[in-house]
Amino acid sequence: MGVVDPGLLRDDLAALYPQFGVTVAHAGLLLAPPTDVELLELAAIVAEPGGIVAPGREPELLGWPAEQGGAAARRFLEHAWRLREVPTAGRWRMPLTVIEGGRALGQVVLAHEYDDPAGTVRTSSWLARADQGRGLGRRARLMLLELAFGHLGALRAVTGATVANTASLRVSARTGYREVHRGTGAHGGVVEIHLAVTPGGWRRRRLDDVVVDGVGPFLEAIRPLEIRPA
Ligand SMILES: CC(C)(COP(=O)(O)OP(=O)(O)OC[C@H]1O[C@@H](n2cnc3c(N)ncnc32)[C@H](O)[C@@H]1OP(=O)(O)O)[C@@H](O)C(=O)NCCC(=O)NCCS
Repeated sequence: MGVVDPGLLRDDLAALYPQFGVTVAHAGLLLAPPTDVELLELAAIVAEPGGIVAPGREPELLGWPAEQGGAAARRFLEHAWRLREVPTAGRWRMPLTVIEGGRALGQVVLAHEYDDPAGTVRTSSWLARADQGRGLGRRARLMLLELAFGHLGALRAVTGATVANTASLRVSARTGYREVHRGTGAHGGVVEIHLAVTPGGWRRRRLDDVVVDGVGPFLEAIRPLEIRPA
């Protein structure tokens, strides 16, 4: 069997789901929609004990499944495959693999859910533990904000983290977010901090030379329906 070209796999996915046509690149770091090849690489990180957080710290990851090993990998894949859905103005989910030197080392998701006000996007992210603390989390967030504010016309980006998740909160603070509220949410009574940033708060931190590609068909798909008077 020949080597599968990830670009061709992505083109096939993008023909069905336009969010899979979007890529964001910056200085050797690429955010690209996950093919199954990359999802399996990511699933191996998820399955590894301590692959994402030190054992015992899993409750710091909001909504992360409690399973371990193969069961965790399967849960991750099932969730990732559910994100392959046709985007609409009311709800869309854009998962992007974090790729450095051809290696998949994490995942970020930019999304808009039914409950979100028009113009609001959500971000979430994780990186393999071995690749944390090198500034990649901050760069990946700024690349997502470039996509959201600079290309999709978003007005506000929100995120959340547990009060103990210093790295995530620090990335948010250093990319212009402010705390909106905190409280115990749906995730086992842990205190969650919810944060938001607007284009004005982000612009001072904006990265130079971020290259965003492929947004045209996606924007077309999420355009609100025009209601014309009869
Ligand atoms: C959150 C995450 C994506 C951030 O990515 P990262 O590459 O590790 O972050 P960066 O290297 O860009 O920056 C991390 C910042 O947190 C700081 N930090 C990290 N751990 C810290 C700690 N225990 N105490 C104090 N500061 C800490 C770093 O010093 C750095 O701050 P600086 O930029 O002022 O130096 C990554 O750590 C991760 O995947 N964590 C596990 C999954 C997760 O928690 N995801 C969010 C779920 S809500």
